[in-house]
Amino acid sequence: MAEPGVSSRRRTVLDDLEAEALALEYEMRPAEDLVRFVLENYHPRVAIAFSGQVEDAVVLDIAYRINSEVRAFIIDTGRLPQEIYEYVDIVRDHYGIKIEVIFPDEKEVAEMVYRYGFNLFYKSVDLRLLCCHIRKVRPLQRYLANLDAWITGLRREQWASRVNVRKVEVDHDHGGILKVNPLADWTYEDVWKYVRERRVPYVSLYDKGYKSIGCAPCTRPVSPGEDPRAGRWWWERDAPKECGMHCSIYTGGFEKELATILKGGVRRVGD
Ligand code: ADX
Ligand code: SF4
Repeated sequence: MAEPGVSSRRRTVLDDLEAEALALEYEMRPAEDLVRFVLENYHPRVAIAFSGQVEDAVVLDIAYRINSEVRAFIIDTGRLPQEIYEYVDIVRDHYGIKIEVIFPDEKEVAEMVYRYGFNLFYKSVDLRLLCCHIRKVRPLQRYLANLDAWITGLRREQWASRVNVRKVEVDHDHGGILKVNPLADWTYEDVWKYVRERRVPYVSLYDKGYKSIGCAPCTRPVSPGEDPRAGRWWWERDAPKECGMHCSIYTGGFEKELATILKGGVRRVGD
C-alpha cells in the first residue's frame, strides 16, 4: 500500500513537508528500510546513480537484495578510469543485472573540446565546471526527467557542502522528483564494514590509495591522513569540490560559455 501522496503513476511525488516527514521517519532506521520503501513505491521509475564508488556498491547491494530488478545507471563522461569500466562489467556479472549507461550530448562535447581543448579542466575552475556541466550535469538532467525518484551514495561526512544532506529530499534542481540518500549518516568505515561483511565487489582503485573516484584526469590517490576527497580536482584552490550534480553551481563565469556552446552548434573543420 502506497504512503499518502505517493502513487504508482508517473510524476506523482512528494512536497517538501512530506519529504521531510519521511526523512525524519527514516533518519534513525537502517538504510535497508528506506531503500525498501522507495523501491516498493517507485520502481521502475526510480534508479540508483552508480558511479562505481564504494558507496554506490553498497546501495546497489542493499537494493538488489530487496528487488533483483532494481535499476541503476552510470553517466559515462567519456573520461572515466579504465578500472571503472572493468568494474561495471564485474558488477553486471556478479548480480546478473544490466547497468544503464548515460552519455553526454555528442555535439556539446565536440563544441566544448573544439573551443577549449580536451584537458580544459586544468585551465580554470570555470572551464572545469563547464566540463562537469556538459559531461555530467546535463546528461543527468535529461535522464532524471523520466524518473520519479533517484537514489545516491551521498554521505554527510564527505564534504562541507554535504553536511546537510537529508535521507529524503525533494530535488528542486531536477523537476521536483524525490532524491533519496540512504547512506547519508554512514561513515567511511561503515561503508567498508558492509563491503567486507557482505563480500561486495569494489573497484580496484581503492587498493591503490584512491578514496573518492571521479573522472581519470580529475582524480588522484590520497596519502594516509589526507582528506578522502582531497584527490578530486586536487589542483584547484578555493573551489567547490562538487561537479554540480548535487547542487547548482553558479560562478558567473561559465554560464556565458555554456550558453554560447549550446546555441553555437558544432563547427566543421575550416569554419
Ligand atoms: S561529484 O559531484 O563529486 O561528482 P561524487 O563523486 O561525490 O559526486 O558522487 C556522489 C554520488 O553521485 C555517487 O554516490 C553517485 O550516486 C552519484 N554519481 C557521481 N558520479 C556519477 C556517475 N558518473 N554516474 C552516476 N552517478 C554518479
Ligand atoms: Fe570533466 Fe573532470 Fe568534471 Fe570529468 S570530473 S566531467 S573530466 S572536469
